[in-house]
Amino acid sequence: MGITKICCIGAGYVGGPTMAIIAQKCPQIQVTVVDLNEERIAAWNDEDVNNIPIYEPGLSDIVKEARGRNLFFSTDVEKAIDEAQMIFISVNTPTKTYGKGKGMAADLKFIELCARQIAKVAKENKIVVEKSTLPVRTAEAIKSILDNTGNGVKFQILSNPEFLAEGTAVQDLLNPDRILIGGDTTEEGQKAIQALVDVYANWVSEDRILTTNVWSSELSKLTANAFLAQRISSINAMSELCEKTGADVNEVARAIGMDSRIGPKFLKASVGFGGSCFQKDILNLVYIAKSYGLNEVADYWEQVIIMNDHQKRRFSNNIVKTLYNTVSDKKIAFLGWAFKKDTNDTRESAAIYVADDLISENAKIAVYDPKVSRKKVLADLDYLQSRAADENVNSVLSFENPYEACFNAHAVAILTEWDEFVNYDWQKIYDSMQKPAFVFDGRNILNGSDLEKIGFVYQAIGS
Ligand code: UDX
Ligand code: UDX
Repeated sequence: MGITKICCIGAGYVGGPTMAIIAQKCPQIQVTVVDLNEERIAAWNDEDVNNIPIYEPGLSDIVKEARGRNLFFSTDVEKAIDEAQMIFISVNTPTKTYGKGKGMAADLKFIELCARQIAKVAKENKIVVEKSTLPVRTAEAIKSILDNTGNGVKFQILSNPEFLAEGTAVQDLLNPDRILIGGDTTEEGQKAIQALVDVYANWVSEDRILTTNVWSSELSKLTANAFLAQRISSINAMSELCEKTGADVNEVARAIGMDSRIGPKFLKASVGFGGSCFQKDILNLVYIAKSYGLNEVADYWEQVIIMNDHQKRRFSNNIVKTLYNTVSDKKIAFLGWAFKKDTNDTRESAAIYVADDLISENAKIAVYDPKVSRKKVLADLDYLQSRAADENVNSVLSFENPYEACFNAHAVAILTEWDEFVNYDWQKIYDSMQKPAFVFDGRNILNGSDLEKIGFVYQAIGS
């Protein structure tokens, strides 16, 4: 029997878009997305689809099409669990901030809560799909909670890692490179896998749907993210060498990217990678390796994070050094706060760390991001706990308009690669700034020689 009712716990950056696409492509399946956060659910249900809580190009149109037809957002978690034959778990799994594994291991508190809630509510057999990125062998923990309910209900646990990237989530979901599904090798396990394959087969060709065992699936997700992040740290390491030697990292990236064995993607030197996944997943990998006593494996992957932290710090140090070793009371305009373009997500964004360093040097930061509010900027800085919240309030200026943000500034720093930055009237910005006027391009998106012609002192990563 095919699946007709799906529930997803967690209406975040992964759960929301993924379920919207499933609902759009499978009108015969009723999809209910639930979340504990009432505000978030209310925003998903907002009459004006432009107010949905997640900004992703193309998403609001899909929500508009499916919402109320077969896509529903609700806070009634128990009802949705009870009705669904298949339950996706898509809650967040932040790095632990306390106790054993602090700063390294994933905090599985929310996952366990979900498993317990499913165990409590379920009266019929169900398939539980782990969608959150999790440490290898988490499925086992979920299984053990679900298998011990004593009410005779049988659960199949599948691992179905998400590979979508924010900013391109809709395209990634519509045309995935692959779908990966891990399940038990038993007959029931294979049936559960097939049920999920059938859902995706509504729009993904079957040769792109890979099936494997649960552990390989879980580890594949961590490995994919570790490899991607490693490429960025590798090119960023070269960017520092390029700056010292007079080579240009963009040229180096172009030259190596044309080697078909290396390929051109993910070779953009930057102020450092951010996002909710890369750092968390690598720390997790490091933690798992250490827990098996594999210290060389752990050290190898940890270096990717060490390099990334170095790159962020190097960027802020360079701003201070270039501005005559002091930024005290100087206005530094930040263009961009999101961790990449086309998203309003700021988790682990390099901008947060660069701003934190500069505020510690008494700079005033004037932030403009087309999708990020002042409230979010302040919350991100407060989360670091480097200073009292009111000091952050006093140090961060926010503007609705990039020209105001840059007005009277000593320097402009590009932290996110938003397309619109390229098309600004840079002459106008130059005229309004303190002289000499500096641009620190953390994303290598501007045309340095054009800016130099205007009169800017221009510095990009890796050249
Ligand atoms: C999350 C994880 O961070 C990531 O590791 C994984 O790959 C996919 O799921 P994301 O969707 O970006 O990613 O997280 P987030 O936007 O924080 O959304 C999670 C949602 O779950 C939040 O809205 C939160 O309120 C909700 N939640 C959390 C619950 O509904 N119940 C809980 O018990 C915990
Ligand atoms: C990543 C993975 O790509 C995705 O498959 C997984 O499901 C979740 O984690 P995401 O974090 O949303 O996705 O975005 P991604 O495009 O991978 O970018 C991550 C960070 O790396 C961003 O800060 C981005 O600016 C940076 N980056 C990316 C670079 O600095 N250089 C590059 O060449 C590519």
